[in-house]
Amino acid sequence: VTKPTDCCRTDDLSALQQAVERWRRAGETVGLVPTMGALHSGHTSLIEQLKASTDRVVVSIFVNPKQFGEAKDLAGYPSSPTEDVERATQAGADQVWLAKAEQVYPADFNCSVQAGGPAVGFEGDGRPGHFDGVATVLMRLFGLVRPDAAAFGAKDYQQLLLAQCLVRDFALPIRIVGCAVVRDRNGLALSSRNARLDADQRRSALAVPQALQRCCAAFATGERNVERLNAIGHEHLTGAGHRVSYFSLIDRASARPLSGVLSASGEGPRLITAADVHGVRLLDTCDLDDPPCPA
Ligand code: PAF
Repeated sequence: VTKPTDCCRTDDLSALQQAVERWRRAGETVGLVPTMGALHSGHTSLIEQLKASTDRVVVSIFVNPKQFGEAKDLAGYPSSPTEDVERATQAGADQVWLAKAEQVYPADFNCSVQAGGPAVGFEGDGRPGHFDGVATVLMRLFGLVRPDAAAFGAKDYQQLLLAQCLVRDFALPIRIVGCAVVRDRNGLALSSRNARLDADQRRSALAVPQALQRCCAAFATGERNVERLNAIGHEHLTGAGHRVSYFSLIDRASARPLSGVLSASGEGPRLITAADVHGVRLLDTCDLDDPPCPA
C-alpha cells in the first residue's frame, strides 16, 4: 500500500536530484528548507512561506555532525522522521530528503568553510566551530540541491545572516528568505530543544522572551543607553536563575555589538540572547521596537 507521503520522501540523493531536474525542465522554481528534523511549527512556517514564492519546496533532514561541539548534544538530538515527513508534506513540501551522512560527506570530502562576518561573536564564541560546520553543510546542501531560494528562521539570527553572507561571498544564485520567529501561546520561541524541558522548566523559560520584552519596554519609554538596555535583559534572566551567555543589542546587518547611545538614524537595532535554561541552551531575538508577544 502506498501511503500518501511515500511519494514525497526519499533518502536517495539521485532520486531527489532527478526530481529537481524534472521541475527545472518544466520551468518551475525550487526552494530548499534545510533542517535537522524534529520539525515544529517554526519549520512548517518556513515551508509555507517559501512555497508562496517558489513552485516546489524540498525539505532536507540531516543532523549535521560538523556543527556540534559536544558529542552528547549530537547524540541527544531528537529524531522523528515519520512525523517530520507528515508535517512537511502537510505544510506543502514536495520532497522530503532524509539525507544520508555518506552522501552529504563522502569519504573523500576534504574542504570546510571558515565562517566570518556575522558568525563572529555570541553563538560563535559560545560554540566554537559551530558556524564553520553550518556554513560547510549549507554550501554542500546548496550544491547538491541547487535551489533558487532557501528559507531560514530569524530565531537563529546569526545563522540567517550567515546564510545571506554565504550566498553573497560565493556569488550563489540563491535568494535567502528570512522568516519571523514563531512562538508558542505563552511567547516561548519554538525550538526543537524545547522538547527537553518539562512543564515547570518551560514556564521558567518564559523569562527569555520576557527579558526581550522588558528591554523593548525600556526603549519604548525613552531609554537609549545600550549598556543599560542590555543590563535590563541580563538582570531579568539572572534573576530568574538562568545563566546568560549573552543579551545584546546588535547591528541588524552585521551582528556586531552596539555600544554607547542609540542613534535615531538607520535601521533599528536587533536584540539577541542565549541563556542556559535548566541545561538547555535557548536562543531568542527581536527588533527593539517589536517585542515578542504570545501567539
Ligand atoms: O538550523 C538548523 O536546523 C541547522 O543549523 C541547519 C541550517 C539545517 C544546518 O544544519
